[in-house]
Amino acid sequence: MALGLQMQADSRPNQIDLGVGTYRDEAGRIPVMTAVKAAERLLVEQQDSKGYVGPSGDAEFARRLQDALFPDLPASLQPRLSRIQTPGGTGALRLALQLIAQANPDARVWIATPSWPAHLPLIAACGLTARTFRHLDPNGEHDRQALADALAQAQPGDVVLLHGCCHNPTGVDLDVEAWREVVQQAAARGLAPLIDLAYSGLGEGIEADVAGVRALLQGCDNALVALSCSKSFGLYRDRTGALLMLSSTAETTANLGQVAAAQARLLWSNPPDHGAAVVRIILSSDELTVLWRAELGVMRERVNQLRRQLASLVVPQMNLASLTRQRGMFALLPLSEAGVHRLRQDHAVYMDASARINVAGINDDNFQRFFMALSSLEPCLPNGLSL
Ligand SMILES: Cc1ncc(COP(=O)(O)O)c(C=O)c1O
Repeated sequence: MALGLQMQADSRPNQIDLGVGTYRDEAGRIPVMTAVKAAERLLVEQQDSKGYVGPSGDAEFARRLQDALFPDLPASLQPRLSRIQTPGGTGALRLALQLIAQANPDARVWIATPSWPAHLPLIAACGLTARTFRHLDPNGEHDRQALADALAQAQPGDVVLLHGCCHNPTGVDLDVEAWREVVQQAAARGLAPLIDLAYSGLGEGIEADVAGVRALLQGCDNALVALSCSKSFGLYRDRTGALLMLSSTAETTANLGQVAAAQARLLWSNPPDHGAAVVRIILSSDELTVLWRAELGVMRERVNQLRRQLASLVVPQMNLASLTRQRGMFALLPLSEAGVHRLRQDHAVYMDASARINVAGINDDNFQRFFMALSSLEPCLPNGLSL
């Protein structure tokens, strides 16, 4: 049974929900940002038509989103970049993989696991073959060697799918060196990077969070970047995202834009307007942009504060110190499935079976209970390993 349904069926009042992948504030709410509310009011006043936006969507939204994330790209790069609005980051990933399958049905998609659970099914749904490699080494750090080996085995035209920042589910990101290696190998060996950038601003800050992707855009011939506004603008249900497409020449860029629009027409015809219009209004206003950045900063600081709090816990047999070296809302606890089950059964603590937690589900009210629940476990380490 899905985690949400299990929670609904559980009548215990003090459930702790660490499962769902949405940001929560201290009160446990998924808040609507003040900047979003203000933009929505303006939208209601200004909008005078509900006509279709067209398969490519709101061009100004996508352009402003690119500029907000990558403000300092060299002017010479601009003619090689095009954008298309998509229903969320998932839509952008689906479209990207569809474009890859159309251009090269034999392309293999190299992806480090564990990854966001939708990645592998999306690859398969587009008829592409996934090749997996290890994201974490036995110490729980990024496995740079596994990435290097995968890049070395990939053939020209193959795709490497990477998380831009705040890796889901591990919180373990690529460092500068690892990004450099990806850029070098992709450029040298004709690989096509596909980046899933769903959490920009929720790690260290927008600039630091997108630094690897920016290096890649500047150093590669081709790349696809799936952008999501779900988390950074809290627009989950409004299905707001874009696919940023880098190609080698201005001519191929124009062509790619047309091919992408044709694919989008088959997948969803026209994207939903509301969330993109809201983001466009925010990013067109200096005042609302400042407000949005400040609110995003509050969310990020809350997540990082919770990471520090959790890392300071002394839990028998469980080293949580690495939580402060990781980024974003997610972390994998060193627990076996049996441990996850025990937390659910005995303490109403809900998390994914993989032991992924969303740290934003912790608050002052449940922190101590979560600590007690963890402390009550006998060692339930994955695969019988000890830390
Ligand atoms: C890594 C990752 N990519 C993409 C998405 C999809 O985001 P969206 O809701 O914008 O489709 C998520 C959502 O949880 C995610 O965690």
